[in-house]
Amino acid sequence: NTRVLTGITTSGTPHLGNYAGAIRPSIQASHLPGVDAFYFMADYHALIKCDDPQRIARSRLEIAATWIAAGLDPEKVTFYRQSDIPEIPELCWMLTCVTAKGLMNRAHAYKASVDQNVARQVDPDDGINMGLFSYPILMAADILMFNANRVPVGRDQIQHLEMTRDIAQRFNHLYGQGRDFFVLPEVQIDDEVATLPGLDGRKMSKSYDNTIPLFEGGAKALRAAVKRIVTDSREPGQPKDAEGSHLYTLYRAFATPAESLGFREQLEAGLGWGDAKDLLSGRIEQELAPMRERYAELMVRPGRIEDILQAGAAKARRLSQPFMARLREAVGLRAAL
Ligand code: TYM
Repeated sequence: NTRVLTGITTSGTPHLGNYAGAIRPSIQASHLPGVDAFYFMADYHALIKCDDPQRIARSRLEIAATWIAAGLDPEKVTFYRQSDIPEIPELCWMLTCVTAKGLMNRAHAYKASVDQNVARQVDPDDGINMGLFSYPILMAADILMFNANRVPVGRDQIQHLEMTRDIAQRFNHLYGQGRDFFVLPEVQIDDEVATLPGLDGRKMSKSYDNTIPLFEGGAKALRAAVKRIVTDSREPGQPKDAEGSHLYTLYRAFATPAESLGFREQLEAGLGWGDAKDLLSGRIEQELAPMRERYAELMVRPGRIEDILQAGAAKARRLSQPFMARLREAVGLRAAL
């Protein structure tokens, strides 16, 4: 069987990028024969950038409801919250002790924060906590705890997967004695999506405040957000550069290749941006509308979601507990029973 695993940080409202980049491909994978799926709420990761407990709780509910509304079957998928698996932070520490500091110095997210500080002419470490610095190690622990073979994510996570492989190899080399503890995970990226642009054309991201929420605010909010996507100043009737337009990139993430070709031809024939935006929000809405109803039903039943997450954690721990016992023994802490 192939193990497929992915997580979403519980610090914000799920957006189109999370959905197209991670949730949709993960749900599709979970329905394939021979796939064991592990999907989780990365709430320890959320603490790195969010110190508002209510926001974390709200985000967890929204993300869990989104997964289920999008078709996750909790009977089939092991669906849990990261912080319910105490073996994950324990493994994180073991991995921290075999990870070179130099590897973490190269992490994009950390480097971007340092660069911003340098540009602002403040202390390079200003506002940077140790969680951000060692973020990739916690992510490696998430993945290696369950020995995932495949990790469906957006392009922004590729470096984290490379680091996970490095860390796994290092641990195997030090402690494996011919038998590998960890498999090396492969990244899975949907080329039609890769990096979904946000309202301003940069990567759609909570940190840029340029996201289009999936369900929150309903169809009206979706249409209003799509209207705010930046376009160039070409008038209706003038041919548009489809390849260079964010609308086309977004459209492709929600349409069949034939539909995308049609959209492209209309743009090149001079379709106005306003009409193009109506087509785009219509296409997205067609996919989301049935899910939005399920989402609304789930959001008013937080107890039901909690039950699902608890059952998922119990399932996950049936694997993480014995595996952790083997790892403790391997590094010399305590003999496994
Ligand atoms: P997070 O919470 O920032 O994003 C969740 C997933 O959504 C994808 N994504 C996008 N894909 C395409 N276009 C975009 N604009 C876009 N924005 C976000 C992300 O690539 C990601 O797949 N570190 C992870 C969470 C995590 C994780 C893990 C993932 C923790 N442990 C283990 C996989 C395996 C993160 O912060 O994703």
